[in-house]
Amino acid sequence: MNARHFLSLMDCTPAELAQLIARAIELKAMRRQGILHEPLRNRVLGMLFEKASTRTRLSFEAGMIQLGGQAIFLSPRDTQLGRGEPIGDTAIVMSRMLDAVMIRTFAHSMIEEFAAHSQVPVINGLSDDLHPCQLLADMQTFIEQRGSIKGKTVAWIGDGNNMCNTYLEAAVQFDFQLHIACPEGYEPDPAFLALAGERATLFRDPREAVRGAHLVSTDVWTSMGQEEETAKRLVLFQPYQVSRELLDLAAADVLFLHCLPAHRGEEISLDLLEDPRSVAWDQAENRLHAQKALLEFLVPAARLS
Ligand code: CP
Ligand code: NVA
Repeated sequence: MNARHFLSLMDCTPAELAQLIARAIELKAMRRQGILHEPLRNRVLGMLFEKASTRTRLSFEAGMIQLGGQAIFLSPRDTQLGRGEPIGDTAIVMSRMLDAVMIRTFAHSMIEEFAAHSQVPVINGLSDDLHPCQLLADMQTFIEQRGSIKGKTVAWIGDGNNMCNTYLEAAVQFDFQLHIACPEGYEPDPAFLALAGERATLFRDPREAVRGAHLVSTDVWTSMGQEEETAKRLVLFQPYQVSRELLDLAAADVLFLHCLPAHRGEEISLDLLEDPRSVAWDQAENRLHAQKALLEFLVPAARLS
């Protein structure tokens, strides 16, 4: 039961995270050059999705294949988990057959419980609390375009959701200042705010939050599982739309990131992804490279006998 898990950015040291990003950039260059790199031959990743996904599923599945292994997609609809088999029992069985497990779910405690019973690495592919794999790609994207993020100012605009919580962890691990602008009542989890301490500042006015920012990021106003709140959120979050005009108030060399999927006309203006300051497509691609670096780090290569 001593496998290394990745449930949160706090499961790695800052030095390990920096190494993961450097490796992701190397793996990206290798792929561009057509170099085959298959350290995970004969290795199998199980992927348990209790919520929808485009990028996370594709990047883990393609990543495993490119590293020489395989990935198996599972959903509660077609496993015994959906019929009440305990999480711990499922973890014991899955980890006897697989080399790593990625989970996307609702309650973060489900992933923690699974990991507590798993003999193989467990990776958080998004929970209601955190989305650490996305932050690997976000940090890679900033660092490859602008160099170190240490000491920079990042503005998070919109919902204090799982992405915002993860930016709070990233502020600690990558050592930047995080300005968060959100409506009252939609602040991030107080535990993550406390963790970030003086690295985080709350604002109500998004214009104040983006002033001087080197990176601006946002996310959907209604996360998966909150669909019944959509109408209320559409009204409340209106002043928090990120537009070209809002970015004009940030640093001259600001970058804009969005984890996607985007809702144009809601959290971003219709034209924002076409703005040269937006690097959201590179960010999406970097899910692949960052997670390949993570898989290489967590999953032991097969030994040739
Ligand atoms: N950003 C992200 O996690 O996208 P998916 O929901 O498509 O996986
Ligand atoms: N906050 C969003 C992120 C989607 C990638 C959600 O949880 O739905």
